[in-house]
Amino acid sequence: MAVLVTGGAGYIGSHTVVELLNAGYETVVVDNLYNASRESLKRVEEITGKTVTFYEVDLLDRDALNRVFEKHSIESVIHFAGYKAVGESVQKPIEYYFNNVSGTLILCDVMRQHNVKSIVFSSSATVYGDPEVLPITEEMKTGGVTNPYGRTKFMIEQILQDIYVSDPQWKIILLRYFNPIGAHPSGMIGEDPNGIPNNLLPYVAQVAVGKLEKIHVFGNDYDTEDGTGVRDYIHVVDLAKGHVKALERIAEHERAKEGGVDIYNLGTGNGSSVMQIINAFEEACGKELPYEIDERRPGDIASCYADASKANRELHWKAEKTLSDMCRDTWNWQSHNPNGYGDA
Ligand code: UD1
Repeated sequence: MAVLVTGGAGYIGSHTVVELLNAGYETVVVDNLYNASRESLKRVEEITGKTVTFYEVDLLDRDALNRVFEKHSIESVIHFAGYKAVGESVQKPIEYYFNNVSGTLILCDVMRQHNVKSIVFSSSATVYGDPEVLPITEEMKTGGVTNPYGRTKFMIEQILQDIYVSDPQWKIILLRYFNPIGAHPSGMIGEDPNGIPNNLLPYVAQVAVGKLEKIHVFGNDYDTEDGTGVRDYIHVVDLAKGHVKALERIAEHERAKEGGVDIYNLGTGNGSSVMQIINAFEEACGKELPYEIDERRPGDIASCYADASKANRELHWKAEKTLSDMCRDTWNWQSHNPNGYGDA
């Protein structure tokens, strides 16, 4: 029996495949390599000493996906595959809705056809929109998302819940990630964004390595301690381990012969500001990083951090790594691979 990982060659996917292999799961990866590289999986094999079965398959290619399900005895699916850039999603809504939503529908249909009804979905704290209360619990209202990328996450959550209503044998886990950063401590896999990074950490890392000139801090007049935006940054290895725990939860449901939809925040529960991130990264790389204060980025919110106690209670999972671990591991990855997998 194997776990199918869609988007398993990407940033969070590849780290999760490492943890799955370490936990003894047979793992089959499908990825269209739109925003990922084969090299990441070669390195996953080096890190773990185990083999990853990989297919270059687009979820929109139903026949190809079907063949993967015919060839392997798939027990459950972890679904990461999707476009993920907020700004780009505003420019290309048709592509985003088509790829993310239709890709998920085809996946679920093929799963149903093969009687596979267990899925862990890679969702995002973005589904909470601008939160009314902090920290954010899973019961809080979702929706009010400000961009197509975020809306695809919100819509897919709704779709999966409707599928469960139609057939309560489904075991569905929605994992709402806060801000994943960091890299595997080996420095062999990490985040390798296409072009100029949109997210803070990869941007800071590229300034540190000399590829970009200076950090742009998007606003210092928010209602936060130092005026800069506050987020709940979580180490990608902690996040990856949360997926292994989610599969264990699905196995519990399996044993109890019950289905369900479980929703968990994966965060640390701590907020850090942009300035705190810059300072922590300076510590990690041992140099001062140039920055300037710019305008706020449209659509940004002041603060966002998780109440992660439900995942602790029910998944027996807790983020273990500190902000300094996250910055050290990002720097280790970036300094050894200044051009990401392009250096390979
Ligand atoms: C962003 C997305 C979110 C997505 C997540 C994936 C937006 C509005 N939201 O979250 O939907 O799920 O990435 O990881 O894009 N910042 C700077 N300078 C920069 C980049 C960011 O000051 O060059 C600030 C931002 O204003 C924010 C913080 O850093 O306060 C984090 O930004 P970012 O890394 O882009 O993540 P989010 O905006 O939280």
